[in-house]
Amino acid sequence: MEKKNIDWSNLGFGYIQTDLRYVSNYKNGAWDEGTLSSDSMITLSECAGVLQYAQTIFEGLKAYTTEDGHIVTFRPDLNASRLADSAKRLEMPVFPEDRFVDAVVKVVEANAAYVPPFGSGATLYLRPYMFGTNPVIGVKPADEYQFRLFCTPVGPYFKGGAKPITIRVSDFDRAAPNGTGHIKAGLNYAMSLHAIVSAHEAGFDENMYLDPKTRTKVEETGGANFLFVTKDNKIVTPKSNSILPSITRRSLVYVAKEYLGLEVEEREVFFDEVKDFAECGLCGTAAVISPVGKINDHGKEICFPSGMEKMGPTTQKLYDTLTGIQMGKIEAPEGWIKVIK
Ligand code: PLP
Ligand code: COI
Repeated sequence: MEKKNIDWSNLGFGYIQTDLRYVSNYKNGAWDEGTLSSDSMITLSECAGVLQYAQTIFEGLKAYTTEDGHIVTFRPDLNASRLADSAKRLEMPVFPEDRFVDAVVKVVEANAAYVPPFGSGATLYLRPYMFGTNPVIGVKPADEYQFRLFCTPVGPYFKGGAKPITIRVSDFDRAAPNGTGHIKAGLNYAMSLHAIVSAHEAGFDENMYLDPKTRTKVEETGGANFLFVTKDNKIVTPKSNSILPSITRRSLVYVAKEYLGLEVEEREVFFDEVKDFAECGLCGTAAVISPVGKINDHGKEICFPSGMEKMGPTTQKLYDTLTGIQMGKIEAPEGWIKVIK
């Protein structure tokens, strides 16, 4: 199979239309059998539930070319189950988890020419999502839905790749206590847009959101969870029921304990402690592990000892081990890698 003529090493995190996407519709209480489609456009009622009341949820995962030339995905079963949790919270029907994984396989196989080669630094990003399609005017859930899954080749989420970024403490809140912060709903991202645009205008790469109730605890950023490294080399990561349960973070916690022999604390993290950490990183499918060099708290800077030039040593070890597992250089725990071809 011949690869597409794409400058893989210079890709940013953007959308490139690929050949085929998976589409399945839910009507009269059942999902249809689903199909691959060459049509990248969607025609919807002007009154569709998604357009009126934002009834939409999504996932994000990647396909990789391994060192020995296979194409694999990383823990797609966990994306399937998180999408099911998101669906339940927004009163949407669950897309069956085995069918989710099957759709991942079909879309990656059908677009194999877009899976970036091993060593290029790029990956194929998969975006499964689901939304209410029939007309809804009173506030209530839709009766009809569409599940879609497309893919697009991507490079690093933050410009500069593995260079440390600068973030600021946001005055806006991301998720309310007892709200929807723990699911992957489009509405969580819509309300973060003003915060991210104003952060960028002020010269920052991302926002650190604090817990909205007390504004004393670290939550997450707009698109990734936090991992900190203490000066005595423990991993600390915030525990909160209003952050997204990141699959990357859960995997890194395992990697830290079982591969690197590090102690890990998953607990509430007070913003006051952050100045004492040695390293800080953002973890997620898109972010992988993006090192944070500096946090600006209303003009007061926290500069991590790892600096602004490169990742700290423990963040680097976590990064190398996780990407080594994903790219087939390091043996993966049972069930983490789904070989596609
Ligand atoms: N937090 C938020 C708000 C996200 O959007 C994401 C991205 O999916 C993550 C965390 C990281 O989650 P994962 O590692 O499952 O991609
Ligand atoms: C991901 O990491 O997959 C995300 O969804 C984060 C961001 C692109 C929204």
